[in-house]
Amino acid sequence: MKNNALTIVESKTKQPKPNTDQIPFGRTFTDHMFVMDYHEDRGWYEPRIVPYEPLTLDPAAMIFHYGQTVFEGLKAYRSGDRVLLFRPEKNLERLNRSSDRLSIPPIDEEEVMGYLEELISLEKDWVPDTPGTSLYIRPFIIGTEPNLSVAPSKTYKLMIILSPVGSYFSGGLTPVKIRVEDKFTRAVKGGTGMAKTAGNYSAAYQAQKQAYQEGKADVLWLDGVEKRYIEEVGSMNIFFKINGEVVTPALSGSILQGITRMSVIELLEKWEIPVTERRISIEELYQYYEEGVLEEAFGTGTAAVISPVGELNWLGKEMVINNHEIGELSQKLYDTITGIQTGKLEDTPGWTV
Ligand code: COI
Repeated sequence: MKNNALTIVESKTKQPKPNTDQIPFGRTFTDHMFVMDYHEDRGWYEPRIVPYEPLTLDPAAMIFHYGQTVFEGLKAYRSGDRVLLFRPEKNLERLNRSSDRLSIPPIDEEEVMGYLEELISLEKDWVPDTPGTSLYIRPFIIGTEPNLSVAPSKTYKLMIILSPVGSYFSGGLTPVKIRVEDKFTRAVKGGTGMAKTAGNYSAAYQAQKQAYQEGKADVLWLDGVEKRYIEEVGSMNIFFKINGEVVTPALSGSILQGITRMSVIELLEKWEIPVTERRISIEELYQYYEEGVLEEAFGTGTAAVISPVGELNWLGKEMVINNHEIGELSQKLYDTITGIQTGKLEDTPGWTV
């Protein structure tokens, strides 16, 4: 597998770079993309960087029918002349864990890291330098075999596409209002919740729509069995600061193992702020709210990094958190993580590449 030689076909035309101050998330792509194919008889083969262009796929390709696909999301940041990636090996490890769940063959993480670095080097001029902006990296794998049988595909494509993105919160961190979802379920233990796979996201749209209609930014997901235990917020992991202690739902099998989540836990441990991964129910949280000890709540993810929650609405009950203001800890975590990501703060060993 390691003997694959990367070929690079440079695009003859180069697109103008967008104004990243105003760019919406995920709609502009760079001049090149990475592609590699898999066949069960050959393994992964023909790694190549080619001009960004539409794909030709058979309408019977298995991705279209049974959703055999996984993806990742990470970012490249400009730091003077350098381009930094934040813990990219964690994304490739997670890609393989997701693939395993979806019966997709694993990639060689070290080999693909090399290709990713080549692609970023070629596209380095696309990494924006305005504060808060970055180049979003989307690796993904799709089952491509034309076959309507309900069975794993024998062929796949791994691709990496790049999209310059603006600041998630243009006016600085903004606490959001969240609806506690009481009807729909994101994932259950034994399902695909721990995998970064397309269906987890499209299955959330109906709940998201209802939240929007109620003037909320997204939903807080509860567990699918008892509808009590808190799992995630929108497409992010969730943290609460309760009476000085930080609590986040333990990885139960239905929760995505976020890389920002992991980094937040490691930073809190370093700062000697108590942090616990455990089951926490919405009733328990409401009790803390009533006691006045629910101090902060925030989501963590690659896209927003830290997203403060200013209000939770649960079956008509309203929990206003920190007076709709950004909590001190939320701000400190955001400043620290983005500082490390952009090379402005000292790197926690090995976090940036
Ligand atoms: C993230 O927070 O990074 C996400 O999972 C959102 C992404 C799918 C756009």
